[in-house]
Amino acid sequence: MEPSIDTTPSHEDIERVVLGESEIADIVKRMGAELTEDYRDSNPLIVAVLRGAVVFVADLIRAVNCPLEIDFMAVSSYGSAAKSSGVVRILKDLSNPIEGRDIVIVEDILDTGITLNYLIKNLESRGPRSIEIATFLVKDVPDQRSAVRPRYVGAHVPDAFIVGYGLDYDERYRNLPYLGILKPEVYS
Ligand code: PRP
Repeated sequence: MEPSIDTTPSHEDIERVVLGESEIADIVKRMGAELTEDYRDSNPLIVAVLRGAVVFVADLIRAVNCPLEIDFMAVSSYGSAAKSSGVVRILKDLSNPIEGRDIVIVEDILDTGITLNYLIKNLESRGPRSIEIATFLVKDVPDQRSAVRPRYVGAHVPDAFIVGYGLDYDERYRNLPYLGILKPEVYS
């Protein structure tokens, strides 16, 4: 991925900005237009995955120009901080049944795919009409679950520690308005 051309001043813990505010805005606008085109007549249910997707989904729904509804799920995957075990647990479930609905799962990042793999299977069992994934980022990692095929992708990012725009390290940096690579000394 090319270095960001955005001139946003960055936090002292950030090694480099990978997507600046204006680049993020362009991506969100493009994804919003794609969703508008595909869901014009179906009143989709946008399912945002807490907590990382909160910033992205708030921007994304405002870039969609057709009726939609929004709900939230929270999940946690177990394992060490570095390596997930693949066991996922629902911490907060949807408020309503989704039978017959067109679902768009909105994520901030697809990494190993464990979270989305679980969510797709879980939501499929509830009888929706369709399920698609909109993820702001796809991390280019070798062992991604192949079953997860996002229809809407914002950008691909390198296999580095990326924070900001909803993504955290130890619950920090979610509020940075841009995406950056964290300096290794912060987490090592
Ligand atoms: C992050 C991110 C995705 C998931 C992606 O969530 O928001 O949900 O990891 O990783 P995967 O593809 O390897 O499953 P996290 O569990 O860190 O929680 P958060 O959203 O509250 O930050």
